[in-house]
This record gives sequence, structure tokens and C-alpha cells, in this order.
Amino acid sequence: MRNFDMPRRALAAVLLGGSLAAPQSWAAAPPEAASCAACHGAEGMGNAAAGYPRLAGLPAQYLAAQLRYFADGTRSNAIMAGMAKPLSAAQIDALAAYYAKLKPSGTPAPMPTGEAASEGERLALRGDWSKGIPACIRCHGPGAVGVGAAFPPLTGQSAAYIEAQIKAWKDGSRRGDPLGLMHTVALRMSDAQTQDVAQWLAAQPLQPGKTAAAKP
Ligand code: HEC
Ligand code: HEC
Repeated sequence: MRNFDMPRRALAAVLLGGSLAAPQSWAAAPPEAASCAACHGAEGMGNAAAGYPRLAGLPAQYLAAQLRYFADGTRSNAIMAGMAKPLSAAQIDALAAYYAKLKPSGTPAPMPTGEAASEGERLALRGDWSKGIPACIRCHGPGAVGVGAAFPPLTGQSAAYIEAQIKAWKDGSRRGDPLGLMHTVALRMSDAQTQDVAQWLAAQPLQPGKTAAAKP
């Protein structure tokens, strides 16, 4: 079936500041990706200042699940609900497969200094067992580069985005995480811990192509 939504979406991309001039990497892009690029960038690396996350190199299964969550309200976000609702299941799968194949690129945020930085590092690498918070790398892999299909990389995401997600799990506006794992972790984190770990994670190198193997 032909998708009559396309012209409107392409126009929206232009209005939102994107460009119709397709760079090389769009060669194999599904047509809908033109509208996504306005916010997530032609390379899928998002826009840190605006809070638009990296999509490049995230697991396809994870990306597809998030698009379905935005569409059905499991993950509540007005912008992404509007983007995801018109997509068919096949379009969601095509977009997810496309972004999963893009190589992440760019420079991480500068490493924070002082006590906040060491607190952030401690939480990411060792957790805080006095509060029952496991180390982030236990699930997100060494260097937080992601593990298998279910644990997304945290590298290449901005501190503001990471912080916003922890808050969203706390207040229930983001759901759908397998077994409520992130909801449980988020509830135990203080605002200061959230901020510290988000800044430390945003400063980690991308390590393109590296994803830890899922444990059996
Ligand atoms: C107008 C800006 C905008 C456009 C256009 C847009 N997005 Fe988003 N996207 C966002 C924002 C903002 C978020 C973060 C939402 C949140 O905080 O939960 C997001 C989040 C996402 C996520 C979740 C990423 C993660 O790491 O969990 C996916 C997947 C996604 N977008 C895919 C798309 C796709 C595919 C398109 C095109 C069909 C698209 N987006 C178009 C702004 C946009
Ligand atoms: C017990 C396993 C586990 C631990 C420990 C864990 N996470 Fe997660 N995390 C997950 C899973 C699973 C997801 C994917 C959620 C989904 O599919 O909706 C996730 C997703 C995320 C996301 C969303 C990424 C995105 O692209 O939107 C952020 C941010 C995050 N975790 C931060 C952290 C931080 C910070 C820590 C350490 C304090 C941490 N996680 C520890 C399992 C875990």
C-alpha cells in the first residue's frame, strides 16, 4: 500500500530545520527517515542540546519496541507519539533496522571534574549497594556500550537525555522496560546521583561497533 503520509512528513522535516538534500548515508534509508533526521540528525546521532537522543547503532529490537511504546502511550512523549502513531508495523521495523545499522560517530561531552565526577563513575562502575543500586555496566556492558538486543548503549547519549529518562521511569511516564528493571533502579537513585552518573556516562567514548555479547 502506498503511504500518502510521506509528503506531509517530508514537509515537516523541512519546516523543522532539516534538509531534503540527502547525504550519502541516506542511500538505503526508508523514506520515513527523512522526517526523523530533522531531530535525530542525518547520521542518527541526535542533538544533545535539544535533548534528541542518539539512534545510530542502538539494537533494532530495542528501537522498534520504543516506537511501539510511543505509539501506544507506554512511553509518554508528545513529540514522539505524533511521530510514531502513523507508522505501520513494517515501517517501524524498517526504521529500526536502518538506525541499528548506522555507525555512531562524534565526540563525547567533556569529562566532568571534581567530586560529582567520581560519584558518577562510582555509580556507573560499582553501583551503590547501601541503596541497592547495581552498577550500570552490569547490564549496559563494559564502557556502557550496550549488551545484546535488550540493553541499549548509554554512550553517545547526552547527560540531559539520560537524566530525563531516569526521571521518567521514576514518575511512571516511561514504562515497558523488561521486568521493570530500570524503574526499580531509578526509584533508588537520588537526584544528585542521577545527575552525576548522567554526566559521567555522557563523557564516555563511543567505541563504534562494540557491543558486549549477551550472556546466555
Ligand atoms: C521533532 C523532533 C523529533 C522527530 C521529528 C523525531 N523524533 Fe524521535 N525523539 C525525539 C525526542 C524529543 C525523543 C526523546 C523522548 C523522550 O524523552 O522520551 C525521541 C526519542 C526517540 C526514540 C527513543 C530512543 C531511545 O534511545 O530510547 C526513538 C527510537 C525515536 N525517537 C525514533 C524516531 C523516528 C524513527 C523518527 C521518525 C519517524 C523520529 N524519532 C522523529 C524527537 C523527535
Ligand atoms: C538490572 C539491569 C540494569 C541496570 C543495573 C541498569 N540498567 Fe539501564 N536499562 C536496562 C534496560 C533493560 C533498559 C532498556 C529499557 C527498555 O527496553 O525500555 C535500560 C535502559 C536505560 C536507559 C535508556 C536508554 C535510552 O536510549 O533511552 C538509560 C538512560 C539507562 N538505562 C540508564 C542506566 C543507568 C544510569 C544505570 C546505572 C545507575 C542503569 N541504567 C543500570 C537495564 C539496566
